[in-house]
Amino acid sequence: MQDQRSDNYKKQAEKFRPLLQNLTKNPGAEMLRYGWRMQDVISLGQGEGCAPTPDFINEATYTALKNGKTHYGPVLGQPALRDEISTYYKNIFNLNIPSNRVFITGSGTTAMHLALTSILDVGDEVVAVTPIWKNLLGAVEIAQAKTHTVALEFTEGAGWRLDIDKLLAACTPLTKAVLIVSPSNPTGWVMSKAEMQRVIDFTRERGIWIVSDEVYNRSLYGQNHAPSFLEVANNDDLVLTVNSFSKAWAMTGWRLGWLVGPSFSEGIIRDLALYDNMGPPTFTQFGGIEALKNGEAFIQEQMKMWQENLNYLYDRLSANPKISLEKPISTFYAFFKVKGEDDCLDLAKRFIDEGGVSLAPGCAFGHDSKGWIRLCFAVSRTKLEKALDRIEKVIGA
Ligand SMILES: Cc1ncc(COP(=O)(O)O)c(C=O)c1O
Repeated sequence: MQDQRSDNYKKQAEKFRPLLQNLTKNPGAEMLRYGWRMQDVISLGQGEGCAPTPDFINEATYTALKNGKTHYGPVLGQPALRDEISTYYKNIFNLNIPSNRVFITGSGTTAMHLALTSILDVGDEVVAVTPIWKNLLGAVEIAQAKTHTVALEFTEGAGWRLDIDKLLAACTPLTKAVLIVSPSNPTGWVMSKAEMQRVIDFTRERGIWIVSDEVYNRSLYGQNHAPSFLEVANNDDLVLTVNSFSKAWAMTGWRLGWLVGPSFSEGIIRDLALYDNMGPPTFTQFGGIEALKNGEAFIQEQMKMWQENLNYLYDRLSANPKISLEKPISTFYAFFKVKGEDDCLDLAKRFIDEGGVSLAPGCAFGHDSKGWIRLCFAVSRTKLEKALDRIEKVIGA
């Protein structure tokens, strides 16, 4: 599995847009597909919890279906859901985000595409903090812009840190946007509010957009939420925040998310969404309303389970002299290195072939994280224990 496309793929892509001939491969997705073909493989390679969507959310959706909520809906989403998200920002973040700044999308990924295609032109540059979930860089590529990466720095004992000076120095006159994922998938790094303030002071002066992926902002251990760029932004700042029902409410398969834009963006985003897919599915949004109204206990329950799993996993993996791992402060991923193993694709493949456990290779999160491995620990304890046994079988205890 190489980074570049095969000649055969390029030949097939010749009939399509030239862009697709050289589209960067996604080694994470390829490794998942590889594992799916095998018998008895424990998959900790995908970013989702094991919990099914809570019943109260499902029930609200069945009711919506029974009540005929099966027709086209408003392009930017059901007004009741847009209002509920506005209320959610008030309740959880103490922020006043009017519903005309909230746009419902058919997933966080769709929200990201909407955000990027609304601001990027061919040749524009995006400065992105890495390691990063590869699909987001793919979205920049599809928008025909170029990514300039700034890597988080890892120090044993201190964990991940961003040199803000480096981030700001990476911006050039061609920079249209800074792309930040905080809390970060895969590292669990979290940008502080003071750092956000520095970034926005800089981008505001230069007319640069901030595209902030806040999909994991309810997964900060010991706290109710991680900082949001909306907490440091004015109503009309060039800030687009992406969010999703996938993680906090265990709704990955629903494909439901949202975008928050500046006060002047509603008409523009509506036109783009209209020509894109005419808006999100109708009935799922009623589940979304219920999730926001009554989902706090579920979020706490999930966080407790993730925290317990994290403690268990950390104690076990950090006792292994071959593994280098800092305990993440957020998200449900352990991002670690196995000493002496620099080829993460090869290692991830061996974990599947020899251990029967599927994990995501670090290069799935950008070139800067080659050699790393990401493990999703939002699974049952039994599954986690078994997976760790298998990992130790491959690398030794
Ligand atoms: C940082 C980040 N953003 C967005 C998404 C996707 O969210 P959704 O399921 O809503 O498309 C993921 C999924 O893993 C993610 O890690």
